[in-house]
Amino acid sequence: MKKILILGKQGQIAWELQVTLASLGNVTVFGSQELDLANPDQIREQVRQVQPDIIVNAAAYTAVDKAETEPELCAAINATAPGILAELAQKSQALLIHYSTDYVFDGSKTSPYLETDLTNPLGIYGASKLAGEQAIMQVDCPHLILRTTWVYGNRGKNFLLTILRLAAEKSELKIVSDQIGAPTWSRSIAEATSQIVAQCGDDRSLRGLYNLSAAGKTSWHGFASQIVGQYRELYPDRHLSIQNILPIPASDYPTPAQRPANSVLDNSKILADFGVQLPDWNLSLSQLLAR
Ligand SMILES: NC(=O)c1ccc[n+]([C@@H]2O[C@H](COP(=O)([O-])OP(=O)(O)OC[C@H]3O[C@@H](n4cnc5c(N)ncnc54)[C@H](OP(=O)(O)O)[C@@H]3O)[C@@H](O)[C@H]2O)c1
Repeated sequence: MKKILILGKQGQIAWELQVTLASLGNVTVFGSQELDLANPDQIREQVRQVQPDIIVNAAAYTAVDKAETEPELCAAINATAPGILAELAQKSQALLIHYSTDYVFDGSKTSPYLETDLTNPLGIYGASKLAGEQAIMQVDCPHLILRTTWVYGNRGKNFLLTILRLAAEKSELKIVSDQIGAPTWSRSIAEATSQIVAQCGDDRSLRGLYNLSAAGKTSWHGFASQIVGQYRELYPDRHLSIQNILPIPASDYPTPAQRPANSVLDNSKILADFGVQLPDWNLSLSQLLAR
């Protein structure tokens, strides 16, 4: 059995990976208490103890706005740590699977982003994630970097859970309608990751950067409207206070970190190389809500 090390224990994607990767190997899962990515010595010590064949790094500093005031910590976790993981993977010829983000782009493109498009992060978080990608590629260990977008699931901090909470409390919500993306269920990211791991076998020639996001696109306003609409349809007996969801421009909702206006990724490369295609965001949303 392969030894698989998952980092990010309580995180949205890591949580789902613990289920989907279980049948593919002996899984060890670390949270920040067992392995602090801001502590290089601890990373080396813990990874050497486990001696993994595959490292799946689903841990990151993901507080996009807070990152603007904590750039050093953000860089240590998102940029330096992936480089250390890559060095360890290189030494033992382990496969490193790492997640990245559409925030490496500035969102000015008017069509879906390709892996080869020019990066230009708008904030500290995006810049740190880009530096993490580059650190891994520079070491050139066996690796797959999967860029995803607008992740949600049934745990953790995410837009879906925030909207459901607010819709129960408030009669009106104002939601940004001029930022476009593909809301992507953490479960479908984990399932696709496992599909790829199963295909890779012992191939250690793998090197690649791939987009991996749900099919289709919407705005935050469109996503919020679907969440409330689908929830009401599925659970007519459960009360939601919300009456109006009003569209607003991002300029009316200022945040410390600027977000890309276009977060839509082109997923053709991962389909061509691995046959992986995530369902439409709307379909995944209904599947999650039905559970
Ligand atoms: N969320 C999104 O919308 C989104 C979009 C695009 C890409 N991504 C990328 O997808 C990946 C997973 O995101 P997610 O949404 O699943 O993350 P998440 O739910 O925010 O969880 C992040 C995990 O990282 C761990 N972590 C934070 N600091 C750490 C440290 N110093 N040492 C070790 N672990 C630490 C946290 O552990 P503790 O709870 O123990 O601190 C947490 O479990 C990340 O690479 C992220 O950049 C996310």
